[in-house]
Amino acid sequence: MEEKFEEIINQLLDRGWAEMPDFLDDEFRKALRAEQLALIAEGEFRQAGIGRGTSFQVRPEIRSDQVLWLEPGDLSPLQQQYWQLLDELRLHINRSCYLGLRSFEGHFARYPQGSFYKRHLDQFSQVSYRIVSAITYLNENWQPGDGGELRIYESAADDASYVDIAPTGGKLVCFLSGEIFHEVLPAHKERYSLTGWFRNID
Ligand code: OGA
Ligand code: MN
Repeated sequence: MEEKFEEIINQLLDRGWAEMPDFLDDEFRKALRAEQLALIAEGEFRQAGIGRGTSFQVRPEIRSDQVLWLEPGDLSPLQQQYWQLLDELRLHINRSCYLGLRSFEGHFARYPQGSFYKRHLDQFSQVSYRIVSAITYLNENWQPGDGGELRIYESAADDASYVDIAPTGGKLVCFLSGEIFHEVLPAHKERYSLTGWFRNID
């Protein structure tokens, strides 16, 4: 893991985002995926929205995924294991990037077939405590024609240059929440992930 952490940090420092295939081993990914599927079957997921607090809105023309927030005080053993792994990553990032990351918040996300999330930043307009976004994909056997790529824009100023990242199972993607514009292209089959943010508040 140490080497993976260092590689992620080098990419983050270099270009503001990082991609690490096989961040989760297959057993761990499968177990998290099974947990997510069970929670979906129990009807626990809610339509995702944009904004926070009183400006929260469900806007399916902007984002059409469904989420289940994880409760830091009430994590399953598996979720705890994930939290611990990301906490190690957080400490590594703090050692070399001086971003002052203090905590992590996250949710499972489900993109039903046909859903997407248009170009955006992960920081809210009023508050900026989200510093680094960290997403792991829980998909099984994702194929090139399945869509659902994470499009990372290389410049805030224009839409012309970007990198498309396939949401392949076990992959971690990290990026600077307030700087990197990104988008989820329409998924042609159901797409699963665990999405979270390192924050500079407790
Ligand atoms: C988000 C987001 C990207 C992805 O939830 O804010 O941009 O690849 N997710 O799921
Ligand atoms: Mn986002």
